[in-house]
Amino acid sequence: MPADYTPATIASVRRLRDSLEEQGKKLVFTNGCFDLLHAGHVRYLEQARALGDAMVVALNSDHSVRQLKGPERPLNPENDRAEVMAALRAVDAVVVFDDERATTLIEAIRPHVYAKGGDYTVESLNREERTALEAAGTQISILPLVPGRSTTRTINKMHGGVSAAPSSLPVAAPLEAGTLRLAVLGSGAGSNLRAIIAAIAAGTLRAEIAVTITDQPTSSFREIARTTGLPALYVDGGENPRRLSDAAQKEIFEHLERARVDVVVLAGFMRILKEPVISAYAGRIVNVHPSLLPKFKGANATQLAIDEGELESGCTVHLVTAEIDAGRILAQAKVPVNIGDTAETLHARIKVEEHKLLPQVLNEWRERGLPVRGAGAP
Ligand code: GRF
Repeated sequence: MPADYTPATIASVRRLRDSLEEQGKKLVFTNGCFDLLHAGHVRYLEQARALGDAMVVALNSDHSVRQLKGPERPLNPENDRAEVMAALRAVDAVVVFDDERATTLIEAIRPHVYAKGGDYTVESLNREERTALEAAGTQISILPLVPGRSTTRTINKMHGGVSAAPSSLPVAAPLEAGTLRLAVLGSGAGSNLRAIIAAIAAGTLRAEIAVTITDQPTSSFREIARTTGLPALYVDGGENPRRLSDAAQKEIFEHLERARVDVVVLAGFMRILKEPVISAYAGRIVNVHPSLLPKFKGANATQLAIDEGELESGCTVHLVTAEIDAGRILAQAKVPVNIGDTAETLHARIKVEEHKLLPQVLNEWRERGLPVRGAGAP
């Protein structure tokens, strides 16, 4: 029996690149998970290879595929994926990498051409990878996607959720009766995430957390997700701490689609979610906010309640729309504002209520049946 396939080393790919350069030739680099090869991949790889004289494919390791796509992926182990990939006519070498980003590989290999699928634009490439490519003088080429072919579509189809007709986006699979598939997004302490996990464990919320996403890689939120064994994805939101770059908006959308999520829960997610998520998940995104909306929108809600001399404050669970903290109110809970309260003491009292209210709203939502994609409200 032939031995298992061994992927190439970074050093050998760098030697290949240097020898091509000596001959005035070019090395093309592309990267991805390539979990379940389909004709779209093959055509994309052929086009990418045509941009130079040899091509290396950097394949996400099993660990990094799990980080990117959740615990049910990859479908095939890395050495098998590498072996299948290396057998393609367009591919000269395959390396396996363990990070969520290919930055280190780009820096070590310094390819002449970098190819990426057309669901990206040069602007929406990951910032770190783009900086590394620019530093290496690499030409960036975005190639058109082959419509109607994607691994996610194939997987959804196996789950029985998607018709065979090609469409531009994968569609969520039908709900398992009565169980809500949640995505929870957060940036900070993660106490609301913990409360949702506890409610699920206690059986008071019939749901599963399909994915968690954070813009803060070292946050307690992410730590809680990890230690609970949940997919704990990190998305680089870009430089502005309140905004999400276009690339990040798109990356989050893709994560939600892959995870086949019913409801998106913003639990202390500090950046503003916009398109494409807002439209695709309209009526299915909830936020928890530490004030009695419509009073005190925005980031300083607890301090504002104190400054305004309020006698009571509380929390609001509401639907998320393009306008900040303005979507339909689903539920509120009140707490007193005590003499001598600081923003922190008041916030701590409010959080106690949030931890009850948010799981309760989600469960009621489940009991009443979910809105279909694009519907207005639960
Ligand atoms: C909560 O108070 C929520 O109302 C606000 O952000 C805070 C998140 O807290 N949007 P945690 O990270 O869930 O502990």
